Amino acid sequence: NESKDGRPSKQRLLVVANRLPVSAVRRGEDSWSLEISAGGLVSALLGVKEFEAKWIGWAGVNVPDEIGQRALTKALAEKRCIPVFLDEEIVHQYYNGYCNNILWPLFHYLGLPQEDRLATTRSFQSQFDAYKKANQMFADVVNEHYEEGDVVWCHDYHLMFLPKCLKEYNSTMKVGWFLHTPFPSSEIHRTLPSRSELLRSVLAADLVGFHTYDYARHFVSACTRILGLEGTPEGVEDQGKLTRVAAFPIGIDSDRFIRALELPKVQDHIRELKERFSGRKVMLGVDRLDMIKGIPQKILAFEKFLEENPNWHDKVVLLQIAVPTRTDVPEYQKLTSQVHEIVGRINGRFGTLTAVPIHHLDRSLDFHALCALYAVTDVALVTSLRDGMNLVSYEFVACQDSKKGVLILSEFAGAAQSLGAGAILVNPWNITEVAFSIGCALDMKADEREKRHRHNFIHVTTHTAQDWAETFVSELNDTIVEAQLRMRQ
Ligand code: G6P
Repeated sequence: NESKDGRPSKQRLLVVANRLPVSAVRRGEDSWSLEISAGGLVSALLGVKEFEAKWIGWAGVNVPDEIGQRALTKALAEKRCIPVFLDEEIVHQYYNGYCNNILWPLFHYLGLPQEDRLATTRSFQSQFDAYKKANQMFADVVNEHYEEGDVVWCHDYHLMFLPKCLKEYNSTMKVGWFLHTPFPSSEIHRTLPSRSELLRSVLAADLVGFHTYDYARHFVSACTRILGLEGTPEGVEDQGKLTRVAAFPIGIDSDRFIRALELPKVQDHIRELKERFSGRKVMLGVDRLDMIKGIPQKILAFEKFLEENPNWHDKVVLLQIAVPTRTDVPEYQKLTSQVHEIVGRINGRFGTLTAVPIHHLDRSLDFHALCALYAVTDVALVTSLRDGMNLVSYEFVACQDSKKGVLILSEFAGAAQSLGAGAILVNPWNITEVAFSIGCALDMKADEREKRHRHNFIHVTTHTAQDWAETFVSELNDTIVEAQLRMRQ
């Protein structure tokens, strides 16, 4: 790895994730327009100091023809991205099927598909075959671009088969794998028909990372109970080979949010929102429209609160931003109708001619509008039934340094382990408890709010996405790849 002038160039980091951080729209036979998503995760991963990062993933569009593929590859190269082309059938079986109909609900403790969910898709085995095939396609692209000395960081439940495929190509390749969802108790994981194969392929990595210590512990105990391997404080050992397993809690780019609040555009938004909701307390939910986010349960808790507290009618509003996601998966379609039905019923029940208690939006907001919304919120409701980390809670805290609003946070979100002391923790399944917490949050005195906010603000601003990425990558870089060790002996 030397640049032209003979000096060693930066080491390369290949980030591999199901999705590239771009949305690609085809404008003509050989022309594409690209929009790079500017989220904290993207800047953290592409901005790891000491490394030159490249991102490998699916562009999220079907490009059947070679001309289109070549043009898209060229356009993406300028953004340091490399595409993996997946056809519609593979996307259906691998992404809609195995990833989002099987692994996603299972890892969030919602169990394996019941009969009606199975009936809408092909059989489990063909989805798993497609999953392995798709992972192999990712591996082929990584292998094509890999140069000796590169570090490869694989992401999330879509790519559990990838570490094994990569090591089969090259046993000296340095491979890390990080899971962004919870890893469930081994009792849940053992119900998965392909439980052992997946664990073994993840163990091919040199470093395996999770958001919390509990997820890492669950993974290690799945390996000991299901595979009969030895768990050590360092990780999992198999015939003398150690796979290091550890917790690396993610964060956000808090400065980006704090700086945005100063922008005139955001200040204008804030003023408008304050006027619009003057005389009412603002409660906010921001979620992907996903069953793990507990949106129906949250809205039912708000209804219960209104039911029990007539003095708050007309004095509080719940703004629920529900960003559509995975809309080809039937479970998600059902959820959308269910949420609409509940919101409609509650607004009919508690609305007046001039105001409704719930504003529900089925779309995302741009970054500046979102910052303004976070800043004017009195109470944020993050009530996921399970959530790997949940960065909405972090974003809210980052935008609250003047208002010092209250965070109601699910104890089943990874963030509960870091923001628990400042938030009101709730069991999202217990609607009575959430309704009660809403009342406590709305009535909370300023000094108590200040104290809680301070705790969380310090955490959010000192544990950033950048730190997370750098810690993982430097630890990965420091692991000694077993194959190299053997070669040296
Ligand atoms: C979760 C997953 C990510 C995924 C994101 C959006 O946060 O952990 O890997 O990218 O959801 O879901 P989508 O299916 O639209 O990529």
